[in-house]
Amino acid sequence: MTSVNKDDLRELTVLGIETSCDETAAAVVRGPKDRQILSNVIRSQLDEHSPFGGVVPEIAARAHITVLDHIAREAMEKAGCDWDDIDAVAATAGPGLIGGVIVGFMTAKAIAMAAGKPLIAVNHLEGHALTARLTDDLDFPFLLLLVSGGHSQFLLVRGVGNYERLGTTIDDAIGEAFDKTAKLLGLPYPGGPEVEKRARHGDPARFALPRPLLDRPGLDMSFAGLKTALRTQAKKLEPIDAQTLSDLCAGFQAAVADVLAARTKRALADFSERHPDHPPTIVVAGGVAANQTIRAALLKAADAAKARFIAPPQALCTDNAAMIAWAGIERMTVGPVDDQAFSPRPRWPLDEARSGVLGSGKKGAKV
Ligand code: KG4
Ligand code: ZN
Repeated sequence: MTSVNKDDLRELTVLGIETSCDETAAAVVRGPKDRQILSNVIRSQLDEHSPFGGVVPEIAARAHITVLDHIAREAMEKAGCDWDDIDAVAATAGPGLIGGVIVGFMTAKAIAMAAGKPLIAVNHLEGHALTARLTDDLDFPFLLLLVSGGHSQFLLVRGVGNYERLGTTIDDAIGEAFDKTAKLLGLPYPGGPEVEKRARHGDPARFALPRPLLDRPGLDMSFAGLKTALRTQAKKLEPIDAQTLSDLCAGFQAAVADVLAARTKRALADFSERHPDHPPTIVVAGGVAANQTIRAALLKAADAAKARFIAPPQALCTDNAAMIAWAGIERMTVGPVDDQAFSPRPRWPLDEARSGVLGSGKKGAKV
């Protein structure tokens, strides 16, 4: 386990860059003691992608090229920093849509080289995994539930660079399942917020939808069967009236929340067995963490296990560059880094030892 004496740490200021999906982002963060976000600039490409009902990789890469240098300059200006104040440049080097990752990482390489700073190649998932240590006082080890459009996984975060993937989806990522469900019900992209909005007026018990894999041991999850069951119900009832639409959304959301709560309970029980002297903590990250029903279900599961529940502010749960800058700071606290020779990777599991691939999502391997 990584252990660093906090008093010996040097305060660092890092410029972070994130371009692995449909957000172009740059941020300046100071830490590890102060843990201050000096700037956090994000430009979403939602308008470019929504006519296509999903993220189009080629459009994403082009949009990153057009705006990244402006976004990076804006992050430096908002932070009130010049290059003398910056200790390193950190950029997402994978996993993700490779065109966008290349744009961000190569831009960061050029900036670091021109400014004479070290470059840190950050795993995007590590950014999500360490965010709660930027926002909260949190020691290793802890559990992370990452639920986004490209990933659904439970991770044991033991230290910087020390992760164990405990369970994952064997088919769709949860955000992807929300988006596909919304699409088949005729709702716009991104589907998660739309499904949640409709579900507010719905009866979650009207349709008996499955809770896939819950009868199996372990922490793997599956959402494709749930989506298919919902499609079958929807087809039977066509044309769908507004109440039925709300009931289907509520039923789907309740099933996802039940699966996540049950898996979280098991993950916490396993954690306590392995670390009996360490108070259990579960951190949730990713776009789906915005969902209030899912948050409430996770909080309840954590309470029942007497565990701490941390959900970083939504802007830091979804893709952003502050988490990349922070991951860079964390990496620098455990040893010198210079990744100028690193090549961007479309797939890059955090836990390379267990990297058997079970399907592929828009951000690379879901495992
Ligand atoms: O983390 P994120 O912003 O991007 C990546 O996929 O990396 O997550 C986006 C995903 C989308 O699939 C979106 O539908 C889902 O998060 N999402 C939600 C909600 N808000 C966003 N899913 C359920 N309920 C929400 N309120
Ligand atoms: Zn992400």
